[in-house]
Amino acid sequence: MSDQSTDKDRRRFLTAATSVVGGVGVAFAAVPFIVSWRPSARAEAIGAPVEADIGKLEPGQMLTVKWRGKPVWIVRRSEESVEALRSLEDKLRDPNSEEPQQPDYAENPTRSVKPQYGVLVGLCTHLGCSPTYRPELAPADLGPEWKGGFFCPCHGSSFDLAGRVYAGVPAPLNLEVPPHSYLSDTKLIIGVDQGAA
Ligand code: FES
Repeated sequence: MSDQSTDKDRRRFLTAATSVVGGVGVAFAAVPFIVSWRPSARAEAIGAPVEADIGKLEPGQMLTVKWRGKPVWIVRRSEESVEALRSLEDKLRDPNSEEPQQPDYAENPTRSVKPQYGVLVGLCTHLGCSPTYRPELAPADLGPEWKGGFFCPCHGSSFDLAGRVYAGVPAPLNLEVPPHSYLSDTKLIIGVDQGAA
């Protein structure tokens, strides 16, 4: 092999090596660029409002969205369920929402802006388990008096369909009602107070 061809080979190798390094440099540069294009994840972590489409929610159904890393339940209550809330008061620890577990526009018998929709943070106020949605009437395990609500299997706390805690269970408070408001009849926003949207 001549000296000339060895030089040529070396040059080719160096050009190829530089291209690879250049390619790696671009790949590394692209990562922070992509990360900086993810503001929604960051915004979500610091508590940006979250919209929910409730147009397809039927009476008795529940939708869960995530807000500030917590589950937020949106429950569509039937007329009978709304009516049943009035008959439970003497069984509840804080039937009139005197503890500050809700915005002032939810300090009413249904703890909501619209009676048919309940909006609740889905975390038990005892030790933070996520209770189960139990909308059925008088199921065998919860007894003949059960009018629908939420049951926490961790230590047996129960809540009605407005998130009001029953007396005599470990959970000390009603479920939290997060700030929320209606953008339209079918769009709800969690994290923005009613009247501020
Ligand atoms: S965490 Fe729900 S009852 Fe203990």
